[in-house]
Amino acid sequence: MTQTFDPATERADLPFFPMARAAGCPFDPPPEARAGQQEDPLRRVRLWDGSTPWLVTGYAEQRTLLADPRVSSDPDRPGYPSSVPRNPEGSSISFILMDDPEHARLRRMVTAPFAIKRVRALRPAVQKIVDGLIDDLLAGPKPADLVEAFALPVPSLVICELLGVPYTDHGFFQSKSSTIIKRDAAPEQRFAASQALSTYLDALMGDKLDRPGDDLLSGLAERVRAGELTRGEAAQMGVLLLIAGHETTANMIALGTLALLEHPDQLAILRDTDDRAVVASAVEELLRYLNITHNGRRRVALEDIEIAGRLIRAGEGVILANDVGNRDPRVFPEPDRLDLRRDARRHVAFGFGVHQCLGQPLARLELEVVYGTLYRRVPTLRLATELERVPFKHDGSVYGVYELPVTW
Ligand code: HEM
Repeated sequence: MTQTFDPATERADLPFFPMARAAGCPFDPPPEARAGQQEDPLRRVRLWDGSTPWLVTGYAEQRTLLADPRVSSDPDRPGYPSSVPRNPEGSSISFILMDDPEHARLRRMVTAPFAIKRVRALRPAVQKIVDGLIDDLLAGPKPADLVEAFALPVPSLVICELLGVPYTDHGFFQSKSSTIIKRDAAPEQRFAASQALSTYLDALMGDKLDRPGDDLLSGLAERVRAGELTRGEAAQMGVLLLIAGHETTANMIALGTLALLEHPDQLAILRDTDDRAVVASAVEELLRYLNITHNGRRRVALEDIEIAGRLIRAGEGVILANDVGNRDPRVFPEPDRLDLRRDARRHVAFGFGVHQCLGQPLARLELEVVYGTLYRRVPTLRLATELERVPFKHDGSVYGVYELPVTW
């Protein structure tokens, strides 16, 4: 028997989403978001605009829905549960917000550079970047902000190299992308930041068309020349890859380091090993445990869908809370324990289904090199402030820390 819901009478009683994390538990999803995960893995919540999408908290239900072609990622469809006011001129961050076949057509054009084998070949270059930044950190003043000195530059340098974006512009693109992903930035500010990045990538695409190099954007320019892609589509793909390529990994590096400093027994596992398999497995567990994409995957139903005794009607929004899914005890026993030795590979930190993270081999490589190097080279690394004073990104669509004062 499926249950239905009448928004007109029941809206006011619904919990507001996103919920707040519990004080003192900066690594755990909000307790209220986890309520009822076992007995009621789909329930209604209320958003900033008064809409009442479904919040899906069960791991199995999340994977089922993320793999279902009857849900759409297109934010311009009525009912899409947007986390922020939409740009009236439409969305502009490429295929992450599109459905197949358009999504697949564009994604296919950039799958080769992110293939596991191609990415593995980048390990020496990533190791060199990480070693160089650790040298600079150790030679610089103490305490230092690990975000600025290390966590942001590692993925920014890597993605710049891969795309063919000049790293000298990092101040510009980092500030624009951090505005775009800030949930409570004024909408006009967010639209302006998005426009500025599009203009920047479009100009860069012009350069690549005139003087192609050996980088990913030049590869896209080649497709523009061949008529397979418009220049606008290529520039938007550049925006997506540039933002996705540094924001997420930077937050995993800083938040992961903080989580490890708070769990010294776990940090010791990484500090005392040179076994790549141990490090790779630790990366999966940190991805599961921290799940920095804490605003949920957002979708809208295209048809009626019955799942877990509920009926999602066509046109209703769905939020797949992957941070909560990764703490589902039916899949991960004692889910709130950070246990670097567990097998966490089934996590949904990279999403699931057709939109599953394209950059995951690169993110994994960067995190393996970082987690496998930083604590071995700086074994006395410690927090230079109290945990309570660390500024967490509660207001961003990617969770992390704004600053991480450390010393050694
Ligand atoms: C630890 C780091 C990262 C995390 C946690 C992460 C997480 C995610 C998640 C959850 C999605 C799914 C979005 C959805 O279902 O709506 C996604 C998609 C995506 N990610 Fe990542 N990501 C990371 C690093 C990267 C990197 C380094 C890149 C490289 C450029 C990247 C590029 C992308 C792209 C292009 C998509 C869209 C895929 C599609 O729509 O087909 N990500 N990511």
